[in-house]
Amino acid sequence: MANTDLVIPRHADVRAVLADERFVVPVAEGGARSGTLAWLRGAVCRFSEGAAHDRRLGVVVKSLDEADPARLRRRARERVLAGEAPDLASISALGEALGVTDLDALAAAVPAAASGYLTGTGRDGADAAVAALARLLGPGPDEEVANRIAVYMQAYEATAGLVRKALPASRRPEARGFPVEAVIAETLRFDPPVPAMRRIAREPAAAGEHEIAAGGTVTLDLRAANRDPAVFADPDRFDPARREPRHLTFGTGRRPCPGADQAVRLAAGVVEALNELESVR
Ligand code: HEM
Repeated sequence: MANTDLVIPRHADVRAVLADERFVVPVAEGGARSGTLAWLRGAVCRFSEGAAHDRRLGVVVKSLDEADPARLRRRARERVLAGEAPDLASISALGEALGVTDLDALAAAVPAAASGYLTGTGRDGADAAVAALARLLGPGPDEEVANRIAVYMQAYEATAGLVRKALPASRRPEARGFPVEAVIAETLRFDPPVPAMRRIAREPAAAGEHEIAAGGTVTLDLRAANRDPAVFADPDRFDPARREPRHLTFGTGRRPCPGADQAVRLAAGVVEALNELESVR
């Protein structure tokens, strides 16, 4: 019988699942009309496996290579100081680095398209927003355009979530005297903005001491794994001085987040600016 929704909390077991080719991500079907949310999900690396995943990830990595993290940090900070909404400043800074000419159109379309990116069910206007992004980030072969869009889809809510966690963390007494990046690194461990990931066993496989039947799903509990006492000393203490870079919030193994560096630097710029604005109020 397939186990359904088995929760894996141990750090070593989460790592093992993420490295194991028998555990795959839910794959979104292709073939939907070009320029729709369903088309986007069916064409991006995030919801694919195998050769298609590798090819699509290549498009994302090529884009991200052009997005120098130090510049992203500086521009995200400047944009928030100039009054741009924090969630959108990261997207605009990325768009600027990647040569997008109409940043207002980008900032208008990304939230609506992102509303349905992970689930497949967006709010009204999600399809129109995806079509607008395809026009803005095209021309090019469909798959390439889709994965250029994917950069913003992956960045938008995850980075906004990181800022929402890191801002109060940066104001904790334990954060005093530490660089924002160190506070963000510890926030990612202590209070992960995306606290769980899913995998499906495509053939019988083991996860920790559990046998998972083909088709069974596992939920990887990143919050628990990041506080596993086998890995982290005094795991419930918020401590930006930690040196272990072993939180699992950006994934690991077969398909870690390719935007981790950019995400940390964007969030650092935004958090720094929000704290500067707060200090002059
Ligand atoms: C500039 C911001 C970001 C960009 C451009 C970005 C990009 C991406 C992309 C393209 C993928 C899919 C990789 C693949 O299919 O192999 C991905 C996966 C992932 N990202 Fe990010 N990301 C960003 C921010 C974040 C943040 C802030 C977090 C965590 C809070 C995060 C956590 C993850 C995780 C856990 C995965 C793996 C998902 C899985 O394997 O199921 N990302 N990211």
